[in-house]
Amino acid sequence: MMLTRPSLRSVAALWGGLILCLVSVFAQAQRGTDFALLDQHGTFHQLSRYGESKAVVLFVQRNGEALSRQALPILADLQERYRERGVVVLLLNSDPAQDRASVMAELAAQGVELPVLLDTAQVVARSLKVKTTAEAFILDPASHDVLYRGPLDSRIGVADAGEPVAWLEMALRPLVERGAPEFDAEPPEVAGTPVDYLYQQRFGDRQISYQDEIVPILRRRCTTCHVEHGLAPWAMTNHRMIQGWSPMIREVLVTRRMPPGQIDMQVGEWDNIHHITDEELITLVHWIDSGARRQGDDDPLIVQETVDDSWRLGEPDLIIEVPEEKIPATGMVDFKIKHADLNLEQDQWIRAVAYNVGDRSVLHSLLVFAVDPGLTEKEPAALVDPRHTEFISLYVPPRTEEEFAADSGFLLRKDRDLSFKLRYVTGGRETVDRTRIGLYFRDSAPEYAVHNVIALNPDFTIAPGEVDHVEHAQTPVFEQDVLVESFAPQTHTRGKSMTISAQYPDGRVQRLINVANYNFNWQMNYRLQHRVALPAGSRLISETVYDNSASNPQNVDPEAQVKVGITTYDEIFSHFIRVLQPLP
Ligand code: HEC
Repeated sequence: MMLTRPSLRSVAALWGGLILCLVSVFAQAQRGTDFALLDQHGTFHQLSRYGESKAVVLFVQRNGEALSRQALPILADLQERYRERGVVVLLLNSDPAQDRASVMAELAAQGVELPVLLDTAQVVARSLKVKTTAEAFILDPASHDVLYRGPLDSRIGVADAGEPVAWLEMALRPLVERGAPEFDAEPPEVAGTPVDYLYQQRFGDRQISYQDEIVPILRRRCTTCHVEHGLAPWAMTNHRMIQGWSPMIREVLVTRRMPPGQIDMQVGEWDNIHHITDEELITLVHWIDSGARRQGDDDPLIVQETVDDSWRLGEPDLIIEVPEEKIPATGMVDFKIKHADLNLEQDQWIRAVAYNVGDRSVLHSLLVFAVDPGLTEKEPAALVDPRHTEFISLYVPPRTEEEFAADSGFLLRKDRDLSFKLRYVTGGRETVDRTRIGLYFRDSAPEYAVHNVIALNPDFTIAPGEVDHVEHAQTPVFEQDVLVESFAPQTHTRGKSMTISAQYPDGRVQRLINVANYNFNWQMNYRLQHRVALPAGSRLISETVYDNSASNPQNVDPEAQVKVGITTYDEIFSHFIRVLQPLP
């Protein structure tokens, strides 16, 4: 039997024992985990990033299923009524055969627009122990706890329903009003369509082999950084290490924090970027959940990769010392802008840039610019002023060299010097970084000149605590045909996501990259597998979202009103895009 809220209160007042009973129901909240997924539009959703909300409602959906269809208008209505009260409604689709297009079509057919999280590796369903579709959850974005699981209401998958009961809302209302869900009866079971877990079909009861299955994945996806003396805080040196870290590994995989710098793989085809396939993810998570054990004594992980400190492209034509920097043991280090005179005798075509990093445990990224002499010593903020500077290359670990394609080169004019923007982290001990940069020149002019154009927004303000602050910028219109090759989007700590699209002369817009979960720590250079041709009259446009709330884990000061500037406390919107221009 259900009690309404007022009667519950009066009964409780008469009979204190019932209060104990209610408290104990609440105390049974299932411990949950944080997770992250992309929705049907490629937007990134992470439970903990909804920390400014009181609750996240999650409903397990499947295209074409009657219960899911019935639930859609109820969920849309719920979102409408509870939006202002701090509730976010999300759907979860854990059917790997249903893709974004089919989800979009399904919702459009029902006339509903809500984010559907595509759990193609089923790791979120697995973490929440989802059994069937039409199961509904209330999640606490701060603790990740499951505050409610059961039916959305008595019409959706409840056998023998009797009188209509809005089960989920009964738990939700007291939660948003008083901060705790209250319900006196166990919600009934939901009878939806059972979720078919792929890993069960794939692995059954078989043990996953640490040696043959896990180590190869770690080598492919992780150990380039997780080596001794690398930037990563711990080295993957042996099985015990992996087993000890396995709860943390599971978390960083399910929240998509590692491997770092992941982007939406359904937009564009990419070369040389960090990602992990569903197959690899399922294998790792399943292995971790079954105890992260190894079979037998041998440990192929022990053969350690070592950091190679030589110039791997051979002796550079020019070696430039980046002025040294003393890094304290702890605390935050602001960006360092540094400068080196070049005094070139003639213009040079650069074919490659190599980085001989002084201390890999502290240098997180380094941008190299060609600049008008003396400029950035006087005016560091001019570093991204395209009238006086041009971005050349970016170092992000673990890649220590960048070679331009064989048919292209960057023209370094003899009247230019170099400036550097460096980002350091502290690593628990004081150290001095002395990094050197090697430039490799071409003997002759290339077929294409490398230009790093910039989508720059020089002036905007973000209010304190603002969660989804959207800004736009574009490159100048290209006067000649160009080929787009790579993207190095840059914001500071409030950056949340960005897309960069081509806008053709006929007005058509094509999305080229979706950095759905930007992380300030990982300012990558994303390189397309195939160059995209843009005819003269096109330009590149970008939409960038900033999160100035306390739920953004990178945010240096959620209370600040943020303006554009060069320090870590300011923001930037300067996305470098490498295009190739044919030379006459
Ligand atoms: C490009 C380099 C790189 C790669 C590749 C990489 N990591 Fe990391 N990892 C780091 C760094 C650096 C950190 C420290 C946190 C940060 O800077 O984001 C880190 C932190 C971690 C942590 C600790 C998180 C914490 O909060 O302390 C775990 C666990 C982890 N990585 C697991 C993995 C796994 C598993 C993979 C492969 C699937 C992987 N990493 C791939 C560089 C990397």
